[in-house]
Amino acid sequence: MTRQESSNPSGAGVNRPPQPDVQRIRLAAVRLSSVDLGHADFLDDAERQLAWTFASQVRRERFLAGRIALRSHAAEAAEVDVRDLQADYVCRECTRDDHVHGMPRYRAGPRKVTVLASLSRAEDWCLVAASTDGQVLGVGVDLESGVAAGFEGFGQVALSAREREELQKVEPALQPGFQTRLWTRKEAVLKALGRGLASVDPALVDVAGSVPLLPVQVAGTGGRNRWVVDAVDPGSVGLPLSFTAAVALVVKPRS
Ligand SMILES: CC(C)(COP(=O)(O)OP(=O)(O)OC[C@H]1O[C@@H](n2cnc3c(N)ncnc32)[C@H](O)[C@@H]1OP(=O)(O)O)[C@@H](O)C(=O)NCCC(=O)NCCS
Repeated sequence: MTRQESSNPSGAGVNRPPQPDVQRIRLAAVRLSSVDLGHADFLDDAERQLAWTFASQVRRERFLAGRIALRSHAAEAAEVDVRDLQADYVCRECTRDDHVHGMPRYRAGPRKVTVLASLSRAEDWCLVAASTDGQVLGVGVDLESGVAAGFEGFGQVALSAREREELQKVEPALQPGFQTRLWTRKEAVLKALGRGLASVDPALVDVAGSVPLLPVQVAGTGGRNRWVVDAVDPGSVGLPLSFTAAVALVVKPRS
């Protein structure tokens, strides 16, 4: 695993040693245009069919490249051949049980070991994460290029009251970067919970502190579970330094 930056979304904090729980996942960045699309053969039939729902060839190829990169990363995490994985995605937002949309998950090898995974694409890059650690209950990553969430009005629609307060403490020139860091944390937290923005108001997902504050209808019943939410240093995974990324983990409580 890579070195992680401060969990303070201001980004102003001093680097500190990686949190031990973050070592439970494998994290990597992959350039989408470098992925051999011939390896689409390794995907499940239903994933290839899903790719054909994109009218644009560019979007279809970006989708396939991300899926190939994620599967290959999950196979490495499970130490199995990439052909020995079966997609077992879970969608908590609908009843379409096709196992290839929503939160990424795989069954690996003859013992059907569970691999939890997460993916985010931005421009020509994707960030992928995978874990077979039984203590890990959820994994989420998010990647943005530049200051994607740095636009005016973002705070009114996407931030909680506490996050808006924190934003006001940041000098104006640095606010676009701060907003983008908050956004990647929110998306990573939602992905770790298997939830999507179609049903969850991002302003209800407060990521200003090291532990997210979530309404019970979003958090579910896992109140004793532990959270790790951290920035990913783009350089540590080979991403262009202008990118912003975050990782979120839900970990079983210590007994
Ligand atoms: C999908 C979403 C979580 C992130 O989208 P984004 O920032 O535009 O794109 P990213 O590249 O960062 O992430 C896309 C990946 O998120 C993952 N993802 C999608 N839904 C997810 C969920 N419920 N939980 C965890 N991860 C999810 C998938 O791996 C997806 O990759 P794919 O295109 O190969 O399927 C967000 O856009 C969203 O919530 N959209 C609404 C989706 C929804 O709920 N639709 C109803 C489904 S029936």
